[in-house]
Amino acid sequence: MSRGLCLCPRCHRDVDRPGITLLAEQPGLFRLERVEWDMKEAGVWAFGPLLPPLPQWARVSLQEGHTPLIRAKRLGRRLGFNGELWLKDEGRNPTGSFKDRLAAVLVSEAVHSGAETLVLVSSGNMGAAIAAYGAVAGLEVVVIVPPGTAGPKVSQMMAYGARVVSVRGTGSDRLGLCLEAVQRLGWYNVNSPFNPLGVEGTKTAAYEVWTALGERLPDWVVVPVGFGCNLVGHGLAMRQLVSAHANLKMPRLVAVQPEGSPSVVVGYERGVEHAVPGPQDTIAGGISQRVTLHGYMVLRLIRESGGTAVAVSDGEMLDAVRMLAECEGVYAEPSAAAAVAGFARLMGQGRIAPHECVLLVVTATGLKEKGDRGGSLPTIDPSLQQLESCTRR
Ligand SMILES: Cc1ncc(COP(=O)(O)O)c(C=O)c1O
Repeated sequence: MSRGLCLCPRCHRDVDRPGITLLAEQPGLFRLERVEWDMKEAGVWAFGPLLPPLPQWARVSLQEGHTPLIRAKRLGRRLGFNGELWLKDEGRNPTGSFKDRLAAVLVSEAVHSGAETLVLVSSGNMGAAIAAYGAVAGLEVVVIVPPGTAGPKVSQMMAYGARVVSVRGTGSDRLGLCLEAVQRLGWYNVNSPFNPLGVEGTKTAAYEVWTALGERLPDWVVVPVGFGCNLVGHGLAMRQLVSAHANLKMPRLVAVQPEGSPSVVVGYERGVEHAVPGPQDTIAGGISQRVTLHGYMVLRLIRESGGTAVAVSDGEMLDAVRMLAECEGVYAEPSAAAAVAGFARLMGQGRIAPHECVLLVVTATGLKEKGDRGGSLPTIDPSLQQLESCTRR
């Protein structure tokens, strides 16, 4: 028997089956209207009554979550949008991405179940989050990464004491190896697409948005999608809030993917139930997947909410990185800035009305990306004339 909750590896219809996610989804169960956030509890555990019930002794936190909701006026103006534009800056989490929300819940459940070694496949951010939370919980962490993973992300994982192994082959080869280790070596499975507790952690960002907007929800929520955990978490939490509050309307959910890795976008355009496996040809490592394993639920949520799926090019994501930094002082990696690129696409298609309220989920900092600009710096003598001439626009 494998350790760590597993999805059906064939259909991945996890959140549709009775289980922890479905339980937490029942509107009456947690009586949201009466929940008081307990800010004395650390990180995501402030939302403890809405999370899977885990005893206090097992809970691990690095004060994740409670990230800023930024009113992005300059970015809105740059993109010709006069409505309300908000950024949820998930790069401010302790290890630099929204994955800390997942890690807090997953590692706590691993502690609760007596796990000793955690294992996952990661392009960097999830590996760093699990490595950090595993370290403070006193657990061993093994991270399987694809060759070519960004150096700063590998350094970060290793600094937390994780054993990081680069494995050749496809993403499925790496996941297959990971699941074999779970089954044969008894390691605990913290792959977010195979362990529904990860989705539970991502829901906390949506509760924070609702609170920070004065108990309102945006009209649109734009999320970069890799395996789909983050979008599913936002969608389920918002659906939960809508069923508990008569004044709320479900936001339109938008999945953004790279043109070079568009499995949900293709599924959406073909009108089918599942993501359609395809290439992985993009610079955006966090959202580069052959297939979105939560594709079924992502497609259902975006269709039911009246949302959509859009593909953006690598060039659009790099432009978005610059726009976010220049307009709002938020430095994000391309996978995270994809939300901005997706929003710009929707604006271009005239999909968003001028008075609407839009949330862009900026999933991670850009500080751990491979930098490519250092080598092209102008180098001058200490001369004012040279300084002026090389800084002229
Ligand atoms: C920066 C960033 N954004 C988005 C994603 C995709 O998240 P999900 O797999 O939950 O769709 C990832 C996943 O690694 C990521 O690192």
